Amino acid sequence: MIRIAIFASGSGSNAENLCRFFKNSPICNVSLILSNKKEAYVLTRAEKLGVPHFTFSYKNLIDNTISVDEETTIPFLSFLDEYKIDLIVLAGFLLKIPNYMLDKYNNKIINIHPSLLPSFGGKGMFGENVHKAVIEGGEKESGITIHIVNDIYDNGTILHQSRCPVTPNDTPETLAQKIHELEKIYPKIVEKFVKDRF
Ligand code: GRF
Repeated sequence: MIRIAIFASGSGSNAENLCRFFKNSPICNVSLILSNKKEAYVLTRAEKLGVPHFTFSYKNLIDNTISVDEETTIPFLSFLDEYKIDLIVLAGFLLKIPNYMLDKYNNKIINIHPSLLPSFGGKGMFGENVHKAVIEGGEKESGITIHIVNDIYDNGTILHQSRCPVTPNDTPETLAQKIHELEKIYPKIVEKFVKDRF
């Protein structure tokens, strides 16, 4: 059984889709949800879904530490070991993954990005910023990219892309809705990745 940790910073609709998809899977399950935002709605979803969840700070992440309770701080990698994490799935996670984590989970970290990479990727290109830039750029289509994470923002090997039209009356909000529809494929791509690579 491949054990997944999801990293998320926001609402967590992708995280929830992943948890539901893998609930009774014989090959993987979501063992942990981690967020760098204490107030992120993904934590409420994790609670409702009964998935263990924790928060950490930006400093924790770069220092390879995480507080497991008020008194105990341990290395982040040891914490992931305790949960026997095999694969990290980023789902709306806004921080850059540090090199020590990339070294340990080499080619075992996956991200979903709300544009057709390499277009509209890189630092600062997240959430609504992406959709605004796509519309302002007069693009006729947008989409999603699911890729392996490396040490450059939004640059790793592409596993999957899906496309949708951008129409003249689209706003960042309507485009975001189209993108969220496309993102429902994320669990299937993760499942395929696990079948192919583990
Ligand atoms: C998604 O559009 C994802 O592609 C992007 O951030 C958004 C997160 O949405 N990286 P949610 O938190 O999963 O609802």
